[in-house]
Amino acid sequence: EIAEQPKAVADTLLGRIDTTGRLTLDEVRIPAAVLREADKVVVIACGTAFHAGLIAKYAIEHWTRIPCEVELASEFRYRDPILDRRTLVIAISQSGETMDTLMALRHAREQGARVLAICNTNGSTIPRESDAVLYTHAGPEVAVASTKAFLTQLVACYLLALYLGQVRGTKWGDEIQAVVRELARIGDEVERVLETMEPVRALARSLAHKDTVLFLGRHVGYPVALEGALKLKELAYMHAEGFAAGELKHGPIALIEDDLPVVVVVPSPRGRSVLHDKIVSNIQEIRARGARTIVIAEEGDESVAPYADHLIRVPATPTLLQPLVATVPLQVFACELATARGNEVDQPRNLAKSVTVE
Ligand code: M6R
Repeated sequence: EIAEQPKAVADTLLGRIDTTGRLTLDEVRIPAAVLREADKVVVIACGTAFHAGLIAKYAIEHWTRIPCEVELASEFRYRDPILDRRTLVIAISQSGETMDTLMALRHAREQGARVLAICNTNGSTIPRESDAVLYTHAGPEVAVASTKAFLTQLVACYLLALYLGQVRGTKWGDEIQAVVRELARIGDEVERVLETMEPVRALARSLAHKDTVLFLGRHVGYPVALEGALKLKELAYMHAEGFAAGELKHGPIALIEDDLPVVVVVPSPRGRSVLHDKIVSNIQEIRARGARTIVIAEEGDESVAPYADHLIRVPATPTLLQPLVATVPLQVFACELATARGNEVDQPRNLAKSVTVE
């Protein structure tokens, strides 16, 4: 399923962009009035889908200027969330059967909010109970650990965010088209990443005896770090944690010790350069304390090379789209490391593909 991602992301885009680069999201046209009038977006999801939601927040707020909250579906209804008819709730779920997400969406609808589902499974319960649905068309995902569902959820979230920008007029047509063009290339970029994964596999095998791996990121790289850590927990049964790199000094830096592998997701130096420079100094800080730095950086970014014990290159993308390429090496890393430890990667222990109980 990791290898299926180039096709999966292309399938998510299929039929949703016209020849001029305009978005034609027919399936969400029905709640267009809601989309136009919404004054708040709330994303509810669990696990990997929650990480997709965390990334969606950056895109939604940046492109539409609508405030967006992201909440674990399992926490949502227990805190009496503020919802009304002008709240657009986005429920993200691969299976469409996750009980926590379903209960959260029912709660949102009872409060009068409109719910749009981003889902992979046709006719499943979550889309049936939502006001509209954007299917990801990733094809059946069988492995317990979510991979292609995640990338396609991201693509669906980007499409939706751009569409919101289009109907609300917060983005110019040509700006939308520029992002859409980048999205249209992303399947090929993911393919290129997959073709260069041998060093990542070798690295993963060499770390099979380790107990802990940490993951750091900033901005959209932070949810990518969380997702990398989740994949490693699920597949390799290792202690893995993701942090926002800015939080290092507030605690996690105490964990750094000699030869501790730390994966760092570096944003593009061309986009938000402040962000990039901050993370380069984070890499220096942890390396000075003995960490073994595994750096994911875009092609051509030479500034990180002196501080990277292992450098993993990904194609250059706009900052907001980087998770589509930066997550792939982390999936491969977890899969290979788990295999080296003798684990069953498609059926990890204690986990079920869809969590239909609370
Ligand atoms: O089917 P869903 O997307 O609603 O599932 C949500 C989570 O249970 C799921 O993403 C889980 O975290 C995966 N095993 C992650 O790899």
